[in-house]
Amino acid sequence: MTNPISPTTYRPYRDLPPLAGLCTHEEAARPGLGIEACVARLKRFHYAFRRLHEIFTARITAEPIYELKTGFSHHSYLCTEHVEALRKRVGEMREPPLGLEAVPHPALEIFFDEILAAPTTVELLVGLYEKALPALDVALVSHLSDTNKLVDAPSVRVVRFARLELADMIDFGKRCIDRLVDAEQRKSLSDWLVRLDELLAAATDACPLPDRFYSKTSYCYDPLPRRDERFQDLYNQGVNAEAFIYDESLPAKPKALMMLYKRIREIDVPEMMASIITQTKEKPWGYYLEMTRQLWDEARHAMMGEVGFVALGVDWTKVRITHNWSLRLNTECTPMERHAVLYFIEQGLMTRTGKRFEWELGIASGFPLMATIQDYDWADEVLHAAIGRRWYTPQFGDIKKALDYGDQCWTRILSNWREVRDQGLTQHENWWPAIYDAACVSWGETPDPRARAFATTYEGARADLKDVAVGASG
Ligand SMILES: [Fe+2]
Ligand SMILES: [Fe+2]
Repeated sequence: MTNPISPTTYRPYRDLPPLAGLCTHEEAARPGLGIEACVARLKRFHYAFRRLHEIFTARITAEPIYELKTGFSHHSYLCTEHVEALRKRVGEMREPPLGLEAVPHPALEIFFDEILAAPTTVELLVGLYEKALPALDVALVSHLSDTNKLVDAPSVRVVRFARLELADMIDFGKRCIDRLVDAEQRKSLSDWLVRLDELLAAATDACPLPDRFYSKTSYCYDPLPRRDERFQDLYNQGVNAEAFIYDESLPAKPKALMMLYKRIREIDVPEMMASIITQTKEKPWGYYLEMTRQLWDEARHAMMGEVGFVALGVDWTKVRITHNWSLRLNTECTPMERHAVLYFIEQGLMTRTGKRFEWELGIASGFPLMATIQDYDWADEVLHAAIGRRWYTPQFGDIKKALDYGDQCWTRILSNWREVRDQGLTQHENWWPAIYDAACVSWGETPDPRARAFATTYEGARADLKDVAVGASG
């Protein structure tokens, strides 16, 4: 007579779902992976997300296409959240020292080095979204099928969340590839793609380690911010947005438009922060986690500006969105000096004339969307000021020294208005009246003559208008 109790015949009380809904008794009765095997896999996932974070971040600055710049900013941030979750989980698994910085397999190292070194956007997109992310997802799926869902429930949860966002990332990437990569280009990639497959196979010891392809010469970060063709006249500092917004005699509605310009101009912050994150080595993990969160927020602020322009029926490509700030910081300052400038600007945003003022202006403008944008922008900036206090100030011992250093660095890259004009890089054309007119047409209103006549430039001013303590960016 067979035993009536078995994982297949066992029935929970009144046939309720068993095992807290994790899995069936049959699944839970399979031994699955031991701690050592499980941790070895989690460390591989951790390594993959860390390298992906490195690649996404390093390629933000010089990527010209705005949609990719903001997409990479998003995906860089998502990767850090999964790195964080995996670190925490490995730390729960009797593994001190964690050994999270070790390379799990030389083939994996080369695999990610290859994608980091991808010479063009096309290679980069295909390498990331058709090779790296799908391969990581396959590995996560096999973890779910190999591990015991009851004993390893905390890892299963981390892996399921990771898969959710990986799917979104892969979908985004594939849609970009559909639009940007044609059959001819794809053909030219075939040797490299084969090499990537060989590296993935070598990482499971299924074949010998192949040679490097693009990563034969080691990757060199490109600090020059690039923009796509919708961004014109990149040195233009012809419209002093802060001077407009802080002029109490001007009406709130056109100020909302000017504020949208300030938001979309923030695309220079991820361009600059990517350089700090990429060029600052040997910091604790928390530094990269928080700095990347801030980078992503700044990309979101730029997109809020984009959304605002579109919602108000105004063509943002007619606005001159300078790359002067990220270009100068990335090429004339050390990573530490760049961080100092960022910190200095962001602490200034916490004053009465900073983000609160912009939010109140959003409300006063009569555009409910503007108020929402500024409400969240303000909340993000409070977080950023705290991130600065955590990772920047401690290097100085006290806040005053930290601020003074930021002020000095900022002063050093005082407006180069005259210089760029004399070099013929821009005429600092006043684009404001045309944009304001276009907005008034779309609102069905007559332009306010004083607002329309605005013609204050950034000549001789640094973009933070020190006396009103408002940020250029940030
Ligand atoms: Fe910020
Ligand atoms: Fe911002």
